[in-house]
Amino acid sequence: MKNSKTIVELKDIVKIYGEHVVLKKVSFELKEGEIHCLIGENGAGKSTLIKILSGAVSPDSGEIYISGKLIKNMTPRLAVKLGISTVYQDTELVDSLTVAENIFLGEEKTKNSGFLVDRNHQNEQSRNILEALGIEISPDTLVGELSTAQKQMVQIAKALHRNAKVIIFDEPTSSLGLEETKNLMNLVRNLKEKGIGIIYISHYLSEIFELGDRVTILKDGENMGTYEVKAVDISTITNKMVGRDTSLFFKKRKVNIGEEQVEIKNLSKEGIIHDVSFSVRKGEIFGIGGLVGSGRTELVSMIFGIMKPDKGEVRIKGKKLKINSPIDAIRNGICFVPEDRKKYAMLLGRNVVENSTIIYHEIQQNNLLNLKQELNLCSSMVKRLSVAVSNRDQLIEELSGGNQQKVILGRWLFDEDAILYIFDEPTKGVDIGAREQIYELMTELAEKGKSIIMVSSDMPELISMSDRIGVMRNGRMIEILENKNIKEEELIKLFIGV
Ligand SMILES: Nc1ncnc2c1ncn2[C@@H]1O[C@H](COP(=O)(O)OP(=O)(O)OP(=O)(O)O)[C@@H](O)[C@H]1O
Ligand SMILES: [Mg+2]
Repeated sequence: MKNSKTIVELKDIVKIYGEHVVLKKVSFELKEGEIHCLIGENGAGKSTLIKILSGAVSPDSGEIYISGKLIKNMTPRLAVKLGISTVYQDTELVDSLTVAENIFLGEEKTKNSGFLVDRNHQNEQSRNILEALGIEISPDTLVGELSTAQKQMVQIAKALHRNAKVIIFDEPTSSLGLEETKNLMNLVRNLKEKGIGIIYISHYLSEIFELGDRVTILKDGENMGTYEVKAVDISTITNKMVGRDTSLFFKKRKVNIGEEQVEIKNLSKEGIIHDVSFSVRKGEIFGIGGLVGSGRTELVSMIFGIMKPDKGEVRIKGKKLKINSPIDAIRNGICFVPEDRKKYAMLLGRNVVENSTIIYHEIQQNNLLNLKQELNLCSSMVKRLSVAVSNRDQLIEELSGGNQQKVILGRWLFDEDAILYIFDEPTKGVDIGAREQIYELMTELAEKGKSIIMVSSDMPELISMSDRIGVMRNGRMIEILENKNIKEEELIKLFIGV
């Protein structure tokens, strides 16, 4: 890699939204066969920088060089032509088409003088690419039937089919489980060996140390430095990034645990959840762990009324609840931060104020809040969770990923009478500094005697925050463990079932 050629050079990139300078003369370079990691707090400008490289966003000033050539007007189409592909999380694939059709989308292989798509050829070619990558997906599967991890794999295959020289990953593992993360990282190494340059954005520092050749740290739109990963340590990185040392394991304060106040009894849904029972005490954080697909999200969706169980009950303070919808759940004192915030929580096209006060409206059952009150509520939440917003009219989809998560979480802070908080992957996409704020918030809720159910794939998080851990496997809660010196390896064995 040392003497390899530079493929991408970004010079003094500036991006301004309204009055907010999001990128301040950022320079960045990528070589052939290099994995260059990009890290920084939520809102630091990482996604914006790579969107500029891929032509999705145009810079206000600065220069983009690809293989030494200055590119004046980068567009998504030109970027693809120049060999730059991005693997997005909410994928750009079409669910109703097959894997092969997606790989060839826009450049279909035809026969009979262009009148018919040559499916056999497309399937065969796709199979070759997938096989070369060690991906076990059949080319004629509908993309809609694939998991998030598999969709990412298909995007990688698609990038290779387009002869990508640069592949950009923006937080690729934040929706993946343990096994899938491992596979993805192997695949990334495999791409590197082919000489492809990789830009890799992640909030998981462990991934940076495992994968990266170089790492660039962004803070408030400024490049704080580029380092050889081998020559740098965690504390240098976290200091540059958040301005202080942060450890990978959070030290939770001890909270007094009281009587049982939430009971989940024999919850079942045919083919999905089988007879799950557990209880949560006052002040307790009940962690739920397991592999992706083990039923964790389905279980908590049922408690919140998103999915209807065939059998079973939820009791709060001894009272059996009738929950037919999320509104019923909220009125009975249940809060929910879902894993899929776009689908279940964000009011798209609405601003940050509306997105943060919606629950308050729901509880007050009045729609006549005055604007001043709303702004006060919103700004107290923004301050409490250090949400990076440019202005109060900013639409929620314009916030950076981690800041969206903070708003979705923060809207529940106004529900003072709530009893049960359900957090499904609470720190998904959240930077290491803000993660501690969320842990602090959960600890405070516990101290107020609330009960918390926390689903998490992040092992340090699951182990450092939970009082007990329920292990889900194939839709069953196979074990409930007191969290006393649990080792990560032991848990993983239980998740997998060996
Ligand atoms: N379309 C837009 N309009 C206004 N502001 C925007 C827009 N897109 C991004 N921003 C702002 O630009 C800043 C940088 O956002 P960006 O998404 O690049 O951050 P990030 O480093 O990727 O953060 P995260 O780790 O949370 O994903 C944020 O303050 C965000 O609010
Ligand atoms: Mg981002």
